[in-house]
Parts: sequence; structure tokens; C-alpha cells
Amino acid sequence: MAFLWILSCLAFAGAAYGCGTPAIRPIVTGYSRIVNGEEAVPHSWPWQVSLQDYTGFHFCGGSLMNENWVVTAAHCNVRTSHRVVVGEHDRSSNSEAVQVMRVGKVFKNPSYNSFTTNNDITLIKLASPVQMNAHVSPVCLAETTDNFPGGTRCVTSGWGLTRYNAPDTPALLQQATLPLLSNNQCTQYWGSRITDKMICAGASGASSCMGDSGGPLVCEKAGAWTLVGIVSWGSGTCSPSMPGVYARVSALRAWVDQTIAAN
Ligand code: ARG
Repeated sequence: MAFLWILSCLAFAGAAYGCGTPAIRPIVTGYSRIVNGEEAVPHSWPWQVSLQDYTGFHFCGGSLMNENWVVTAAHCNVRTSHRVVVGEHDRSSNSEAVQVMRVGKVFKNPSYNSFTTNNDITLIKLASPVQMNAHVSPVCLAETTDNFPGGTRCVTSGWGLTRYNAPDTPALLQQATLPLLSNNQCTQYWGSRITDKMICAGASGASSCMGDSGGPLVCEKAGAWTLVGIVSWGSGTCSPSMPGVYARVSALRAWVDQTIAAN
């Protein structure tokens, strides 16, 4: 009996903190801010982190990969003085059981180009591990060999602006469902600025916007939410009829694996 109980506890722990399987299930509606998104079910994107400076100012998002590592965008320019806040939904609340983590070390992709925003990925090794719980668990990462075709419906989340000229970022985490574009389709909007290290999503009525950068674009793969893109760049007015551009995780996965293995 005790043996069975221990087994089911182990199974539960595995299910609860395995990658891409939120304990609190997200509700994803149609193409419904982000610009033209909607509030997320609180804590249903448990890998979503807020990158903040010492004043508590939110400047970028990111995604938890495991208890020690967070992935974000290189252009977010993370420094060791910044904080990584996990387990947050309502940034205006002081009653959420958030964990405020210190940055141990920052690994900016050495191929990142700040002029073209190519290879827009940074890994953060936390100074100490996060405690996984129902509000904090990791995302799965797209594999090098994964191919997510144009038209696939995916979800982006963040505390970025809900209007490009809004005075402040929202308190509540926002989400939007967006279709992926093939790079061919995306080039029709952005020309030769689109590289094989980028993947586009949107042009469908919603858009990520300033402050969403570094945050996730996830697609479901075999029942697990998988990080396919990292919010990178797009229309300066966050026009919902222009695709947003994301760092292509599958194309950057080898560098992620090498960096984590070596550190
Ligand atoms: N670069 C922006 C940031 O730093 C995010 C861009 C997202 N998309 C857009 N359409 N502007 O937060």
C-alpha cells in the first residue's frame, strides 16, 4: 500500500513539474491585448517570468527552462543587477507568493547582432534554483529537428503594452493566440530582414508589443506546451495586422544545449 502511494506521488510530481504541462490549465480562446489579447488564467503559463530592474520596473519577459535557467531575448540586455520574478500574475498585487530571483550569470548568444536582431537569445543562470510549484514550472523547448508549419496556432504571453502608446504596461498577464507564418509569408511583410533564426506569428488581429520581448511563443506538441519563439521585434506601433518576429528556438537549440551543458 505504502509502495503504491509513493509511486502515485512520484507520478504526480512528474506530471506537476514536467515541462509544458501547467498545473493550472490555460484557457485558449480564438484569435481574439498584448495588443488585442486577453487576460490569462492566473498562473496558467507557469514558465512566464518578469524581468525587472531594482526599482521593480518590468522591462522584458522570459521563460523558465528548469530550476536554474531562464531564456529571454538578447536585446533585453539583462545584467546581474536585474531580478527575475517567477510565479507572478498580477504585478500590482503584493499578496502573490512570487519568488524574486537574482541573476547568477548572463549568457548572451555570441552570434547576436544588435543591428539586425538576429540570434536574439540570452540564457540566464539563476544565482539559486527556483522552487517548482503549481504556479512555477518549466516550458518544453523546441528540438533542433522540429518544424512548426505556417498556420499552426500558438500562444504568446506577457506584460507588454496593450496599446503601443499606453503610458504603462498592464498589471495582469496577457495572452493572445496567433498563427505562425512560414518565413516565405513573413518576408512578404518584412523583406530580407527575416532570417532563418527568426519565426513570425500574428498579422491576425493581435500582436506582442514593447515589454513582451524575451517572453514565450508556445505551441502545443504532443500535449506539452513547447517554446517555439522568443518575442523579438516587430511593428513599432505593434500593429495587429503585421506579424511579430520571434527568435526561432529550434534553430538556436544547439547553442542552448551546449551552454547549459558547459555551465
Ligand atoms: N522589441 C519589443 C520589446 O523590447 C517587443 C516587440 C514585440 N512586437 C512588436 N510588434 N513590436 O519588448
